[in-house]
Amino acid sequence: MYKYDEYDHKIVQERVAQFRDQTNRYFAGELADEEYLALRLQNGLYVQRLAPMLRIAVPYGMMSSTQVRKLADLTRKYDKGYAHFTTRQNVQFNWPKIEDVPAILEELASVEMHAIQTSGNCIRNTTTDQYAGAIADEVIDPRPYCEIIRQWSTFHPEFAFLPRKFKIAVNSVPDQDRAAIMVHDIGIQIVVNDQNEVGYKVYAGGGLGRTPMVGSLIREFLPEKDLLTYLEAILRVYNRYGRRDNKYKARIKILVKAMTPQVFAEKVEAEWEHIRKSGSELTDTEINRVKQYFTAPDYATLSDTPTELAARLQDNKAFKNWYERNTATHKQSGYRVVTLTMKQIGTPPGDVSDKQLETIADLADDYSFGEVRVTHHQNVVLADVRQDQLFDLWQRAYTAGFATPVLNLLTDVICCPGGDYCSLANAKSIPVAEQIQSRFDDLDYVYDLGELELNISGCMNACGHHHVGHIGILGVDKKGEEFYQVSLGGSSGKLGGGSNAAIGKILGPSFARDEMADVIEKLISVFVENRTEEELFIDTYRRIGMNPFKERVYAQAH
Ligand code: HEM
Ligand code: SF4
Repeated sequence: MYKYDEYDHKIVQERVAQFRDQTNRYFAGELADEEYLALRLQNGLYVQRLAPMLRIAVPYGMMSSTQVRKLADLTRKYDKGYAHFTTRQNVQFNWPKIEDVPAILEELASVEMHAIQTSGNCIRNTTTDQYAGAIADEVIDPRPYCEIIRQWSTFHPEFAFLPRKFKIAVNSVPDQDRAAIMVHDIGIQIVVNDQNEVGYKVYAGGGLGRTPMVGSLIREFLPEKDLLTYLEAILRVYNRYGRRDNKYKARIKILVKAMTPQVFAEKVEAEWEHIRKSGSELTDTEINRVKQYFTAPDYATLSDTPTELAARLQDNKAFKNWYERNTATHKQSGYRVVTLTMKQIGTPPGDVSDKQLETIADLADDYSFGEVRVTHHQNVVLADVRQDQLFDLWQRAYTAGFATPVLNLLTDVICCPGGDYCSLANAKSIPVAEQIQSRFDDLDYVYDLGELELNISGCMNACGHHHVGHIGILGVDKKGEEFYQVSLGGSSGKLGGGSNAAIGKILGPSFARDEMADVIEKLISVFVENRTEEELFIDTYRRIGMNPFKERVYAQAH
């Protein structure tokens, strides 16, 4: 993974010192609340319902075990002993004291981490597939391109005050998208053309939140070297025409829709003509320089499915379930990609304690070259695990509570913190996740249902990606009371790739919290009765439509 050079160290250190001074001046009464607000947001510091929240940048979700141990240590020293993995592959601290944040940032800098540009109206963390570099079916490892974007976008003076926040995601697998690129401000699909040249399909104007939209294709093939000039052109058009008078209409998705994707693309092309030959094109030297940080780890020469593994799989059903569900094929023979699921019933999705962070770091050291990745599903990936060590790893992960074999199934819920931590919430979301996970605790049944995405958000900001859940749940407020609206048919494109991405449709009137597990059970029963063999929930829904679900749920509930 990327290691800081002397410039990186210097700018991060300077920022820590600057923020310490700003915080001191704030506490000395020399800076007003509103003056400090802009400064703290530039350093990832929100002020929430119960306490400040600090969002720490994790470039494309990758961390070293040293960094994870530092996070564990910081949660103990400055927080309540746990942190939260977010749907944009970052890490959040929910309870730091404002006066401690400069010290936290200083400690983060010592392990090459920071919180710069994790909030505010700037380009946020660029995200990608958590399996990047480890799986066989990607076009090319997307991480160097994410890193190129990161270096270009961090501190880019022209894009420090955009109309709104800006999120870019990159995917490199043709028919699966684990980065949800279609619901990002810019989605980049890495492709190879007929001449075997690497390039990008570029989408713009996707996003969730108040007005959810799937991105529009604005360029079919962009040559590899033009990545930054083209991104610059898109951002310039957005910076110039994006609305600044109304926060709710300020995202690029609104602009692309208002202009139409065609006109937007024309404006981008026109802008690009000015800058494409301006000297900012990527060179082979630059691309190769960054690629060097992502060379393969020191893999051993091994053959697939060692005897010992085959025997274990035969003897141990629990291990076999986990192997089949939570591990994936690796491009290197003798290895597997492992997902540690953070979805134990009773623990809010994404929450990790200091002890758990340390266990993750230990597992990464012992089994995966000391590297950890955070997924947008709020799980953790160890990307390079030897097959002959899988059984050992599974036993340790099981003891730690990270081996629930439910990856991509109904109970692998994405869930925002909701009313338990977030001041913007209309309703709590964590208890809804718990209620559903407890109801569906029969693993065989959950397996039988096949892949199914259930996503929950506590308000329309959609941090929990409810719009792109096959089943989405949204907390709504009705005269001061908490209710939940259900949507069906959303898809992030994880199955079937970007062309499959869709925003869910609302089922009908909302429900009380204690009805939610029943509602989900009814929806599932309609699926089970109507599916053809091997059909997934999303496909049954697409085939039979909303009505049968609606009839079942409302016939009995009202
Ligand atoms: C705790 C306090 C939090 C606050 C105040 C907050 C605030 C917001 C707001 C206002 C938006 C909508 C922005 C827009 O529509 O332009 C948003 C979106 C989002 N937030 Fe949060 N959030 C919080 C926590 C989280 C957490 C914990 C996660 C991850 C679990 C998260 C992930 C996201 C994501 C993925 C979006 C994406 C929506 C999009 O793509 O348009 N947020 N958040
Ligand atoms: S969706 Fe709403 S309630 Fe949930 S974390 Fe985001 S802003 Fe808070």
